[in-house]
Amino acid sequence: MGEQTRQPPGSTTLRVPRDFIAAAETAILHSNPERFAFLYRLLWRLRSEPHLLKIASDPDIRRLEAMGKSVRRDIHKMRAFVRFRQIGDSPDERYVAWFEPDHYIVERNAPFFVRRFTGMRWAILTPHACADWDGERLAIGPGARKDDAPLEDTSEALWRTYYWNIFNPARLKVKAMQAEMPKKYWRNLPEASLIPDLIAGADEAAKEMIARMPSTPAPHHAKMQAKHWPVPKTPRQDEDGADARSIAQARKAAEHCRRCPLWREATQTVFGEGPESARIVFVGEQPGDQEDIAGKPFVGPAGKVFDDILEEADLDRAITYVTNAVKHFKFEPRGKRRIHSKPNAGEVQACRWWLDKELSLIKPDLVVALGATAAQSLLGKPVAITRMRGEVIERDDGLRIFLTIHPSFILRIREPEEKQAERERFLKDIKAVKALMA
Ligand code: URA
Repeated sequence: MGEQTRQPPGSTTLRVPRDFIAAAETAILHSNPERFAFLYRLLWRLRSEPHLLKIASDPDIRRLEAMGKSVRRDIHKMRAFVRFRQIGDSPDERYVAWFEPDHYIVERNAPFFVRRFTGMRWAILTPHACADWDGERLAIGPGARKDDAPLEDTSEALWRTYYWNIFNPARLKVKAMQAEMPKKYWRNLPEASLIPDLIAGADEAAKEMIARMPSTPAPHHAKMQAKHWPVPKTPRQDEDGADARSIAQARKAAEHCRRCPLWREATQTVFGEGPESARIVFVGEQPGDQEDIAGKPFVGPAGKVFDDILEEADLDRAITYVTNAVKHFKFEPRGKRRIHSKPNAGEVQACRWWLDKELSLIKPDLVVALGATAAQSLLGKPVAITRMRGEVIERDDGLRIFLTIHPSFILRIREPEEKQAERERFLKDIKAVKALMA
């Protein structure tokens, strides 16, 4: 044994699974004053029960899980509900927020705010600790009082207008809303002062909204019920997008696409979305039920997984371009439901025209193939995603393609641990994408 690793007499080495370190690092942030004794007990048990962490029914393991969950939720809430108020004027302005977390999460969460608000000078004050970013250095200091934080600034009115505009009275579910935005956070949110009025007026507002709604059924119902279709016309060149000089022109031309029969049953073409200057393009398979109705890619359940992972990887979707290998929804009607059906090679090949068009206009540095259909379309041959995920393949034309899974793969996994593990792997891939762009 080398000099540096020599143990003091009488001491022993304790080995614990790596997962314990990760779980303990989160649980130790919990506000429960017994957390140290609890973690010490677990450590002690792990000496004689090395597989303890795998016993999900063990009360200590359940408690460890619950503590972690509560801390993670608190971290998430802090990210969602911190509201900065400006003090001072440009160029000396600073932004200060008051927040009351349930747990000791300030230090853990501060790097997220540094990444998000790198260019601002800000401080987050809480009763137990404060984080201060001067634009170059992050400092963690002792707690503060609410009076130390400013109360109102000019951005309050902006928040209120924003919230007023996005509020949908027909969707109001008070319980769900309070679960997402518990009342304890309301007092620090400028927009919260509107909530009681919005709730009180929601019934009336919803009735008004219904009265204003068109009385025709959703477009896809009309299409599905129609028995006879007009014979598809041969696309004129200007409709076919060959002349398109911008994404907007290509999108317009694709509205009339008849390159394969999928247009007949779908509600509309779902073209890609995002800035033409994007350096990253994400390519999925095809729009799903919700995308078909909204006319936008990745807005349904798979889109939610995608958005959450991007957020966790701190990759802003708004600076990326998101599209699909196939631009029409392919489905099997089952009763009232429309069940996703995989596009065949001919449909993928026909739609490649549009994907190529998007890529030639955007000229991204990296394309991320989400799943096998996207990879096949981009590389022109079948690809074993599970074996090759995380790899970057350079095409003959120099375009770099990063391979990973489709987010709906995670949605299909039933077993919670496996689902979580797959989610972590996907997160790792997306972080790798971000690192490639740094
Ligand atoms: N799945 C996809 O591949 N694309 C979407 O837009 C939505 C779900």
